[in-house]
Amino acid sequence: MPVLAVIGAQWGDEGKGKVVDMLAERAKVVVRFSGGDNAGHTVINRYGKFGLHLVPCGIFYPETTCIIGNGVAINPATLLSEIDLLNNHGISTGNLFISDRANLIMPYHLLLDKLEEESRGDNAIGTTLRGIGPVYADKVARRGIRAGDLLDEKVFLERLKLILEYKNVVLTKVYGAAPLSLDDVYSQYCRYAERMVPHIRETTVMIDKAIQRNQPVLLEGAQGTLLDPDFGTYPYATSSSPLAGGASIGAGIGPTKIDAVLGVFKAYVTRVGAGPFPSELKDKVGDSIRERGHEFGTTTGRPRSCGWFDAVAARFSTRINGFNAAAITRLDILDGFPSVKICTGYRLGKDKLDDFPSRIDILEKCQPVYEELPGWKTPVGDVREFNHLPAEARQYVTRLEEFIDCPVNIISVGPSREQTIEVKPLVRHGFFP
Ligand code: IMP
Repeated sequence: MPVLAVIGAQWGDEGKGKVVDMLAERAKVVVRFSGGDNAGHTVINRYGKFGLHLVPCGIFYPETTCIIGNGVAINPATLLSEIDLLNNHGISTGNLFISDRANLIMPYHLLLDKLEEESRGDNAIGTTLRGIGPVYADKVARRGIRAGDLLDEKVFLERLKLILEYKNVVLTKVYGAAPLSLDDVYSQYCRYAERMVPHIRETTVMIDKAIQRNQPVLLEGAQGTLLDPDFGTYPYATSSSPLAGGASIGAGIGPTKIDAVLGVFKAYVTRVGAGPFPSELKDKVGDSIRERGHEFGTTTGRPRSCGWFDAVAARFSTRINGFNAAAITRLDILDGFPSVKICTGYRLGKDKLDDFPSRIDILEKCQPVYEELPGWKTPVGDVREFNHLPAEARQYVTRLEEFIDCPVNIISVGPSREQTIEVKPLVRHGFFP
């Protein structure tokens, strides 16, 4: 049962795209299980550089089945333009399937995301404005439109009519915005349906078959643990679960079928959008990490706040997800710093907190307690074996491993696939045969 979930362990943008792309080559099925086009995975491979938002990274391998799971919120316009982009680069999307249970992002979700953000004023969450909060709110309010609804135009029309009537009341009466036309939305989505329907399936059956055949299945996470609506820095969070538990629900796989949960940690921390970030560096070091790491959002282009590795948050992430494997990415970005720091605890007044607090009003007041380690002078980008890393870099990674409290299997030292150190192969899970 080689099923592996790859989970963002921080606030997203940990470099999961590269890790998933690497592992996807060895998988038979790759499933996206949460989020929507708020996510952006940069993949650099022999076809070029791609910013994928919805299509799983396995799409570059024609033998790999790629699934957009039930837990994903799909903006059809984004999906179709991604399909076009891939096809224009000679990459087939015949192996792409969409869960009939996945909710669709509708035009009113985009409008409401913007209107709700504006109405929050100074308390705005800093969403990606991709309609994510509104679409997941509708899902749990049982007011969603799912990919499966597109399979029958009559069913779709009836459902849209019912929902749009309500949404237009909210748009006009709550926000004073213009109503949406049923005819326009209906015909627009019927056009999308023409191209989406051939990809729509009951995908849990497909995944189960692969598991029964003992084929490697990769569950591709989006966003990161600290953006989870339950365990993240609520309300500065996203609206679907990026956790290992979310992988089970969002792909439709029983938890006992997931063998390994690999947490992806960046060697430092970044965050985009509002919300507390205890180890944030609002100084030249932070600026330097941002510049070196090109830390600007793949989806929105916004500059990311940068800070030192937060071991308190990392331990929490391991606990909540049950990581039994880890990847450390972007180690090369820390090349050349005279010293590197790890936030090992939070100071709150006279107290020291060792656990990540659930309340943001507390987290906002937390001061980082740092452990300082020597930096390394030699660049690590060409290193392919752990023992060939500069001693200081080895010491840093070993210290992170102690804090993360699970084995570090992969270290990424640059954007290309080759710039990877496979420290402890994931042999047992069939991903590194
Ligand atoms: P939303 O998911 O667009 O509603 O945004 C909610 C919060 O999650 C904001 O702070 C976003 O910046 C953040 N967020 C959403 N998706 C990502 C991502 O893929 N990477 C990093 N942050 C994200």
